[in-house]
Amino acid sequence: MEKLVIKGGTRLKGDVTIGGAKNSAVAILPATLLVNGICKINNLPNISDVKIICNILKEFGAKITWNGEHEITIDTTHINCSTAPLDMTSKFRASYYLIGSMLGRCGNIEVGLPGGCNLGARPIDQHIKGFELLGAKVEVGQGKISAKAKKLIGTSIYMDVISVGATINIMLASVLAEGTTTIDNAAKEPHIVDVANFLNTMGADIRGAGTDVIKINGVKSLKNEGTYSVVPDQIEAGTFMLAAVASKGDVVIRNCIPEHLDCITAKILEIGGNVEDLGDALRVWCNKRPNKATVKTLPYPGFPTDMQPQIGVVLSLADGTSIINESIWESRFQYTGELNKMGAHITAQGKSAVFEGVKELSAAPVYATDLRAGAALIIAGIVANGETELYNLEHIDRGYENIEEKFRMLGANIKRVCEVTEEEKYV
Ligand code: EPU
Repeated sequence: MEKLVIKGGTRLKGDVTIGGAKNSAVAILPATLLVNGICKINNLPNISDVKIICNILKEFGAKITWNGEHEITIDTTHINCSTAPLDMTSKFRASYYLIGSMLGRCGNIEVGLPGGCNLGARPIDQHIKGFELLGAKVEVGQGKISAKAKKLIGTSIYMDVISVGATINIMLASVLAEGTTTIDNAAKEPHIVDVANFLNTMGADIRGAGTDVIKINGVKSLKNEGTYSVVPDQIEAGTFMLAAVASKGDVVIRNCIPEHLDCITAKILEIGGNVEDLGDALRVWCNKRPNKATVKTLPYPGFPTDMQPQIGVVLSLADGTSIINESIWESRFQYTGELNKMGAHITAQGKSAVFEGVKELSAAPVYATDLRAGAALIIAGIVANGETELYNLEHIDRGYENIEEKFRMLGANIKRVCEVTEEEKYV
């Protein structure tokens, strides 16, 4: 079993370079199924979620070549319109993007149904509503979801809930549909725009991505060759911004898009930190104990739920009592129990948590309860007194590439070690 051992007390200093966005990559890769040809995708994050989706695409017949650490060539000329192994798809949430893509490509798809997860229930009713309105027949049962359509026909779809996944999935299914599809109350996250830009680069006609009304004029086919670069990861950048503040450090975050981070910047300024916009980089520094604040997570351009645990670490150290209201996921406060083991004073109930700021955190063995919780606990370990041991690294490796190396370059004392457990000794 691997763990991170973090010797705390470091003020982070230096430069860090942000990789491509996980949540774009896991949608753009399935989107290549709509291309009957060859795509070169670069600035791909080399993370386990990307490797899993590549393996699933190979099952469908895609030929994938890694040209380096962050670039692949994917040839989707010969796709078999069959089913990917259900156990492969049911373990991976973003496999729902295979439904929109394969409906467009083959008119037929079956994937393992992802259930709830550490964040709570994760319904996909808005995805299904969209596919059905486009003319697909969707069946859910026995742990799988199947969708079939002789023909997809563009229509108007109003999203009852603002959903990143459903917005992207409906875009995917509509690209090759007949006529125009309108998505009202669409999500506006940077990765929605990124997926639309990828599809438009390949010949799709999508307008309005990044606003709450997206229009997709169906085209007969996409180009059979193209190159696309994934947008920088907003959440990875925000994670390092808040790590700089929590550690009272001074960090330049390179290869990011400052506008995507406006709400994080605003919160950092509110709590007494400093942010300088350097064009394609941000310098973030903080010399004092942060002020208390109130945070409410919201769909973009609001404060992202995926940054909630990271700001939770900052507020656990703030001067005064802070409140976080989580409006997206029902169980996103599990990390607070781990932070309390490190001396934080947090009371979480339902979708709200009260953070009574403490002057310092102290090391403890802690467990990543999900991806962003894991990132937050690394930050906590870096600022805490003593040596923190962090377990359940598989969550972190899903979405952050070389995270300990990046923190080490900023001066953190952090290493990954393989620990042989009592059970493993006897296997
Ligand atoms: N929802 C419904 N019905 C649906 C879909 C969503 O009620 O059909 C609800 C959800 O229960 C939730 C809200 O709508 O309360 C928003 O869910 P959304 O569909 O936007 O989430 P998602 O697409 O499943 C993506 C990211 C998450 C991120 C959320 C919110 C990917 C692969 N995942 O999930 O990322 O938290 O958007 O921004 O893009 C992460 O990266 O750590 C992560 C969890």
